[in-house]
Amino acid sequence: MGLTLEQAAGRIMVALDYPEASAAEKLLRELDGIPCYMKVGMQLYYAAGPAFVTMLKDRGYNVFLDLKMHDIPNTVKGGANSITKLGVDLFNVHAAGGKAMMEAAMEGVEAALAGGASVKRPTVIAVTHLTSTSQAVLNDEIGIAGPVDEAVIRYAKLTREAGLDGVVASPQEVIAIKAACGSSFKTITPGIRPAGADIGDQSRIMTPGDAVKAGTDYMVIGRPITSAPSPRAALESIIEELMSV
Ligand code: C5P
Repeated sequence: MGLTLEQAAGRIMVALDYPEASAAEKLLRELDGIPCYMKVGMQLYYAAGPAFVTMLKDRGYNVFLDLKMHDIPNTVKGGANSITKLGVDLFNVHAAGGKAMMEAAMEGVEAALAGGASVKRPTVIAVTHLTSTSQAVLNDEIGIAGPVDEAVIRYAKLTREAGLDGVVASPQEVIAIKAACGSSFKTITPGIRPAGADIGDQSRIMTPGDAVKAGTDYMVIGRPITSAPSPRAALESIIEELMSV
């Protein structure tokens, strides 16, 4: 495939899962100069707020705001409106909120752009089933019968019908999602573990190289980078793996 360093780095979303801005800033210093995507999730956002997102944008990073909205349509519309005005590049909702909720998210985006927000249209994606959700949890706890991949495809199709740009899913599901929803439908995949790395609480995992081979558009990687003795060395090694695929 022959990805350049910029292309490989640009497909990696580093999960800044930290309790406060100072810890995340320390990682930013360590990774300085590497043109990867940055992901701000609920832990950091609830602690450091919109100012942290604005700082990342000012430093030139592409930003994924991973707040996984799941509420009544009117509330999600308002949330999507506020997030769009922040200028993030990508954000998400839960497909489990249903089609009307996802459509409301898109209306919130359009209202922000029509209202004169001087930002580009963010990519909007939906979480299908969390990569920590196993077959047993899906069937016995969530109460959805059948295999995980069928449940994921069902949500992916619903997401496309609602007009969103793609889904968050396991890298193991990328090929089936692209087959069902088209190759331009984006796949963002957590559950990435380099060979030999700790699995942690993830369940449906794949290595970075295999995820790229499967056609994933962006991979979200947290602990294999943030908990490594040298986060920079860990990220560089993943970039090299992607460049050699
Ligand atoms: O540390 P790890 O690589 O497991 O981090 C994965 C990141 O991706 C976390 O920030 C987690 O919140 C996020 N995520 C996920 N599964 C989803 C959506 C997001 O693991 N379906």
